[in-house]
Amino acid sequence: MFDLKRFQVNKRVEAALKKNHPWIFKNQCSTALGGLKIGSLVRLLGPTNNFLGIGIYEPLGAIAIRVFQWEDILIDEKYFFRKLLKAHNKRLKYLASYNTNAYRLIHGEADGFPGLTIDIFDKTAIVVFYLKSWKEILKNILEKELMEIGIEKIYVKEPHGNGGEGDITKPIQFIENSCPFLAWPLSGLKTGFFLDLREVRLALAHLVKEGDTMLNLFANDGNLSVISKSLGAQKVISVEQHETSKTQAQALFDLWEIPFEDKNWITDDVWKYLEKETDEKFDVIILDPPSLSTQKKQKGNLANTWKFLHINSFKRLKPGGKLISISCTERLSKEDQIKYTLESAKTLEQKIKLIQKIGPSFDHPELKSLPERNYFRALVWEIK
Ligand SMILES: C[S@@+](CC[C@H](N)C(=O)[O-])C[C@H]1O[C@@H](n2cnc3c(N)ncnc32)[C@H](O)[C@@H]1O
Repeated sequence: MFDLKRFQVNKRVEAALKKNHPWIFKNQCSTALGGLKIGSLVRLLGPTNNFLGIGIYEPLGAIAIRVFQWEDILIDEKYFFRKLLKAHNKRLKYLASYNTNAYRLIHGEADGFPGLTIDIFDKTAIVVFYLKSWKEILKNILEKELMEIGIEKIYVKEPHGNGGEGDITKPIQFIENSCPFLAWPLSGLKTGFFLDLREVRLALAHLVKEGDTMLNLFANDGNLSVISKSLGAQKVISVEQHETSKTQAQALFDLWEIPFEDKNWITDDVWKYLEKETDEKFDVIILDPPSLSTQKKQKGNLANTWKFLHINSFKRLKPGGKLISISCTERLSKEDQIKYTLESAKTLEQKIKLIQKIGPSFDHPELKSLPERNYFRALVWEIK
């Protein structure tokens, strides 16, 4: 059983917690916060000592406490074990229909583990402790739980950069939609593969036609490029600045037995690439920038950055062409995403139509009470 510390919050925080908003900011807390040890589990009480929730204290950014439990129940190792198992069971029922053995097992707050990500690729789990305290709290149960669900290897990856601990030397091969893919936990971004793009990968089947030409901007390891080629695209140009991505893409093309065309892989900054004048036009363009909140490259504000990418993509589309525009920028609302995209087309006097909305997949649940975390949205636009 964990020893829960008592922590009283003010009326404002009480109101937010009553709406199940799980974050308590440092500047909303009394000086009693200073008395808590990092990693403490706290019983949150309102001004009249009413129970509000149970949270974890570990300041990260502006947030001091993150609530993971809303009912007043005993918190022991079995509690966390049950929660991990529940998250697993929720995913299990989808694996067969998606023909995959890769999924996000724990997706932070939405699975009741704020600051924890666990991705499963076949029999390997990649664990990222964004909140370091989970490592200590789960030390006796995480490995046991993962072994119980058939995991053979665990790699604990540092939240930022490529360091980590675990017995992994090469990329991990897994299947999705019955096709082979590679996760690169040692050298790739995040856990080594963007599981959150699953629905986009599947949607390509009806968005890419035999003979299409395609531009894949921010291509990473070429996952969307290889799928498009397998669907019959005659030419796919991939642009990605990360040097190692090209070798990783080559390995993937080899796995799919599709020739890798060196001349169609461009290692460059997308902004620079889009600044170049060209008459080349494409049937389909994929635009999947990294989170724009953290981009040093931002030219001006978010609206201008978004518009630069979209204006220059629309310019490169053939009449009837499609733009698959993906956002993983938490601070870009759905309304602004649509508004900035429409404004981009208007600048070019182009008429566009929203033909498909693609949301997160089954293993990336979202909390209605935490819209700031619901970051993933892909919109497919067709130009007239
Ligand atoms: C969200 S990921 C794209 C994921 C990709 N669509 C896939 O299927 O795996 C964003 C990618 O943009 C790349 N990137 C970031 N800044 C860039 C820039 N200025 N120019 C080109 N690529 C960039 C990152 O290395 C990363 O691979």
